[in-house]
Amino acid sequence: MSSSTGSEQAVVVTERPHEHVALVRLNRPKVLNALSNALAEQLAGTLERLDADGVTRAVVIAGDDRAFAAGADIAEFASEGPHLEVWDRIWAVGLPTIAAVRGLALGGGLELAMSCDMMVVADDARLGQPEINLGVIPGAGGTQRLTRTVGKTLATEMVLLGREISGREAELHGLANRAVPAERVLPVALDLAKRLAKQAPHAVRTAKKIIARAFEESLHAGLLDERRAFYALLQSEDAREGIAAFLEKRKPVWQGR
Ligand code: CAA
Repeated sequence: MSSSTGSEQAVVVTERPHEHVALVRLNRPKVLNALSNALAEQLAGTLERLDADGVTRAVVIAGDDRAFAAGADIAEFASEGPHLEVWDRIWAVGLPTIAAVRGLALGGGLELAMSCDMMVVADDARLGQPEINLGVIPGAGGTQRLTRTVGKTLATEMVLLGREISGREAELHGLANRAVPAERVLPVALDLAKRLAKQAPHAVRTAKKIIARAFEESLHAGLLDERRAFYALLQSEDAREGIAAFLEKRKPVWQGR
């Protein structure tokens, strides 16, 4: 399955490695998967379609061996510049997403990986926010998500000095869920996705949304949101099934309702 039609180049390619799991590949290998506006648009459209298809339960986003993505397309800076509004659509996706990072994740590439719910990285991956070297700053969440995840000390070095960190360091600082040898990145990411796809779909989406609120609200407001979401889920068919399955000592069968 590909995400473009007619003569338009597929800069985002979608595969279906498992019934409920989609693998979305960034596909501009000659420019290290630089995130052109066309690529960002295709990616947002692809994720929105998967989000609404009623089948997909988890998405892995990957690049290739050399790069997840080397950032926004600098060649476009002189003309139109990056259309940053498209990121709102990427951030609004309700499905759980996993970034599978080999090689470079720089600038917008790291911001895309940080937009995902989980990150699997190669031990030797190179992660950074080098925008300062261009005389600008990150524009798609780098100053905020990186700081909240790794803390001000390291984020300041990465954003103000353009310091890169390895995949292994990213795991140590809590930026990545797993750092593994490069050839294991995709299998491990797909395995996590399959595990996510086995959980009750509605509960997974709700959990993702409420976790995101921890970055946006006071603890008190977040706890109230969590309580409301818990009571709402308790009324769902899946919760009734999950509880009945536990009591009957069998595996639950989720309907996503
Ligand atoms: N945009 C456009 N083209 C890019 C690119 C980018 N971000 N990164 C790499 N490329 C292109 C190069 O121009 C080169 O193209 P040609 O073969 O046509 O010359 C090709 O990809 C291969 O790159 P290099 O020859 O430079 O490869 P390298 O291994 O020597 O160096 C690199 C790799 C260190 C990543 C270097 O390419 C580089 O510094 N790239 C820019 C990284 C960057 O600054 N990213 C941040 C962008 S700004 C941003 O992302 C803003 C935001 O928050 C939204």
